[in-house]
Amino acid sequence: MTTLTLRDITVSLGHGDARTPVLRGLSASCRPGMLTALVGPSGSGKSTLLAVAGALLRPDGGQVLLGDTDLALLGDGERAKVRRERIGYMFQSGNLLGGLTAVEQLLAAASVAGRPARRQRAAAETALAEVGLGHRLKHRADQLSGGERQRVALARALFLEPDLLLIDEPTAAVDREQAGALTELIARRAAERGCVALVATHDPVVVDAAAEVMEM
Ligand SMILES: Nc1ncnc2c1ncn2[C@@H]1O[C@H](COP(=O)(O)OP(=O)(O)OP(=O)(O)O)[C@@H](O)[C@H]1O
Ligand SMILES: [Mg+2]
Repeated sequence: MTTLTLRDITVSLGHGDARTPVLRGLSASCRPGMLTALVGPSGSGKSTLLAVAGALLRPDGGQVLLGDTDLALLGDGERAKVRRERIGYMFQSGNLLGGLTAVEQLLAAASVAGRPARRQRAAAETALAEVGLGHRLKHRADQLSGGERQRVALARALFLEPDLLLIDEPTAAVDREQAGALTELIARRAAERGCVALVATHDPVVVDAAAEVMEM
């Protein structure tokens, strides 16, 4: 079981006049096996923190420890490998690939992680059924509603059974009932797999279900 520990993280974003300090000496730790809610006002740096934890953004200073590995010290190639193999990431925007069907979104991620898509199809269909999309397997990204796209993105993040699940506002585009079901799914996966699940959210449904709450 792998813990995520952030030590004294500083991040500034933008260039010139737009240069903005976003994270100033943030330290935090997320235990595996449970859902941690990441809360704070809009613009407080939640998505930025997920990007740092997910090795998408190198902090200006500080350590990003996934187990014993400091992601902030890895070169670009190694960071990409960790992302592909150990991290499930759901972006606030969903970030699906245009032109691919729901099932193909998951199979593409499997293929990038070096797992032959041929053997993953049944598992991908199950993962989509788990987020309530068993009836939308062959719809392309542009044929899905906003909430359906978010659910495909969540299924894709969960699909490869990562050590670290980073999920950005999974319930922003769904109704309360769906929000409860998706939250429960994330918490159950974290418990079953013993992975870290850090979920940025404004949704009381998620906060109430979280074992821990991290405030920005
Ligand atoms: N490229 C950039 N250049 C300058 N500032 C940026 C850049 N990207 C983000 N920021 C600023 O960093 C701050 C944190 O943004 P972030 O997206 O992490 O917030 P958030 O907590 O996820 O907000 P929300 O709840 O609205 O999703 C914001 O004030 C934003 O304007
Ligand atoms: Mg955000």
